[in-house]
Amino acid sequence: MVPLIDLSRRFARDAEEFHAAMDDVLRSGTILLGSRTTDFESQFARFVSARHAVAVSSGASALHLVLAGLNVGVGDEVIVPAMTAVPTASAVCAVGATPVFADVDPSTATISPDEVARVMTPRTAAIIGVHLYGRPMNDARELADFGVPFIEDCAQSHGATRRLTGVAGAYSFYPTKNLGGIGDGGMIVTDDADLAEKVRRLRVHGQVEQYLHLDVSQNHRMSELEAAWLSIQLRRLDEGNDRRRSIAHHYREELPDLRWQSDDADHVHHLAVFCTSQREVMRDRMRELGVATGVHYPFALTQQPAMRPFVTSPCPVAERWAAECISVPCFPELTDAEVDMVVRSVKAVT
Ligand SMILES: Cc1ncc(COP(=O)(O)O)c(C=O)c1O
Repeated sequence: MVPLIDLSRRFARDAEEFHAAMDDVLRSGTILLGSRTTDFESQFARFVSARHAVAVSSGASALHLVLAGLNVGVGDEVIVPAMTAVPTASAVCAVGATPVFADVDPSTATISPDEVARVMTPRTAAIIGVHLYGRPMNDARELADFGVPFIEDCAQSHGATRRLTGVAGAYSFYPTKNLGGIGDGGMIVTDDADLAEKVRRLRVHGQVEQYLHLDVSQNHRMSELEAAWLSIQLRRLDEGNDRRRSIAHHYREELPDLRWQSDDADHVHHLAVFCTSQREVMRDRMRELGVATGVHYPFALTQQPAMRPFVTSPCPVAERWAAECISVPCFPELTDAEVDMVVRSVKAVT
């Protein structure tokens, strides 16, 4: 079976190097917020050309702390795309604000500025855009010019954007991401020194020095082991993204008639996604032919039971995308033979 993703291949390749790094961490006696974390923060800040990087415990934490750091809270609205992973919106709820759903562009499935303008109100305190599946949003500049903070959800786009457009970027290192951890992890990047200082504090219970707390917060720390692993992975990220690109381009060349998410020179193909009205039949037949597929995501946020209290109107483009999108295997460790098998199986069922 060609898997949608197989992390054991990456773990096998890097196990030896990680064991050495792990020994170092254990011998140092510091397991949280030590030199591996600060080293990884510096490496990551350089990688994305940001002044500050603050490592946290997950992508959800990164979004949550950026919003809290910007003083977004009860009574505020935050505009989010209707097609994304649920945590983009739950972070808004976590600070007590209200998520407002904007429909997406039909070719990129990323947030549309026209829709943002349509749902904006005097209570709008921020906009979150998502570089969905690793494809940079077309309109980031426009979104940054609406007069409220623009936050980039980069959970799926490590390496796609090497310069911030918004006030901050929030990354996830969930193991399946392009830069994937051995557990959970996340990163906040920003050029704003005050915001960086505040989220650094919010990461550790709002503590400014030992046992002195300026803000009410929780624990959002990253482990030193996680940082050590991610430093190894960061060195291999460009190579992995190149391989993803070559697989995705091969699919598009071999299967040009499919309705692929529209491409971009900086797309890092976290997922290779096209839309089809025959999704369920296609997935069943591809499974029979030995190829796993996925759906990212089967519901738009406007269709999620948890988001029901916040839905004021449907988002038809996102909802149609949710009904038709299908993800085919696209990860760096796929073999050429497996890539060919994916192409053959799609050809056989279309
Ligand atoms: C677009 C998006 N935003 C936020 C998150 C949350 O990241 P994490 O799972 O690390 O909390 C994810 C990951 O699932 C995601 O895909």
